[in-house]
Amino acid sequence: MRLAGAELLDSREILPDQWLQTYHAPELVAGARAGQFVHVRTGDYSGLVLRRPFSFNTIDTLAGTLTIHFRTVGRGTEWFTRLRPGDRVDMLGPLGRPFEVDPRTQHVLLVAGGLGIAGVRSLADEAIRDGRQVTLLFGGASARDVYPSSLLPDEVEYVVATDDGSVGHHGFVTELIPAYEAWADQAFACGPLGMLRVLSSLAASRGRRLGVAKLGRKRGAGRPVPAGSPLARRKAFLQVSMEQNMGCAVGACLGCVVLSTAGAPQRVCREGPVFASEELDWEGGW
Ligand code: FES
Repeated sequence: MRLAGAELLDSREILPDQWLQTYHAPELVAGARAGQFVHVRTGDYSGLVLRRPFSFNTIDTLAGTLTIHFRTVGRGTEWFTRLRPGDRVDMLGPLGRPFEVDPRTQHVLLVAGGLGIAGVRSLADEAIRDGRQVTLLFGGASARDVYPSSLLPDEVEYVVATDDGSVGHHGFVTELIPAYEAWADQAFACGPLGMLRVLSSLAASRGRRLGVAKLGRKRGAGRPVPAGSPLARRKAFLQVSMEQNMGCAVGACLGCVVLSTAGAPQRVCREGPVFASEELDWEGGW
């Protein structure tokens, strides 16, 4: 984790009230992985240090740049939209734990709901770079919310669902899962809690319904793997990136806690934001 100044290179509104910004921050992108995030200081409105968390939307280690994708929801995010190229912001990162892809995975299924695309977008680049096939299922309210295909690598198969049917499948993105869950070796998701709950339930019953073997069944079979370890997450069919409100983003305030199946508090900023779906108690009421 490093604290560095980041220079804004480009800022544009890619969808109504949704912005994509490119920053030059070589110290922060060195070693950063898909699923991690940065904590960025906003303008000082109150005398307190205010920061906002943003997933690494894309990471370019050669150019030393990263992008963030956000929706304007208040003064903090509106402040970012007023920045101009050449302005500098104070960034802390990379923070949190990344997605873990099993080395044997060939077919990667990404599932994004709305702004959740920002949580999985960089994994598309990583997976393609590593020679994997990638399908991205995206769900939005209507055509005006759909992430532009021009911002995705050409290699990605992009499938869209909208609540009102104005483009793509008419219905929820989770309704597309049956067509892809047998093809996928692993799935990675980010989006609204309701979407993640449905995906978690489908993943839990996938082996029984489809009769497919779990990754990692042979290698290390019988040896206990600690829940939450990178190895355990690598073996999971579904990993989720959780979106919680964050205060400190470094594990101190406990403002971002979710519960594990064992009832243990899990800090999204430290133990997450990525978890194997089977680690979490989806009925935990958080
Ligand atoms: S945001 Fe403070 S512990 Fe996670």
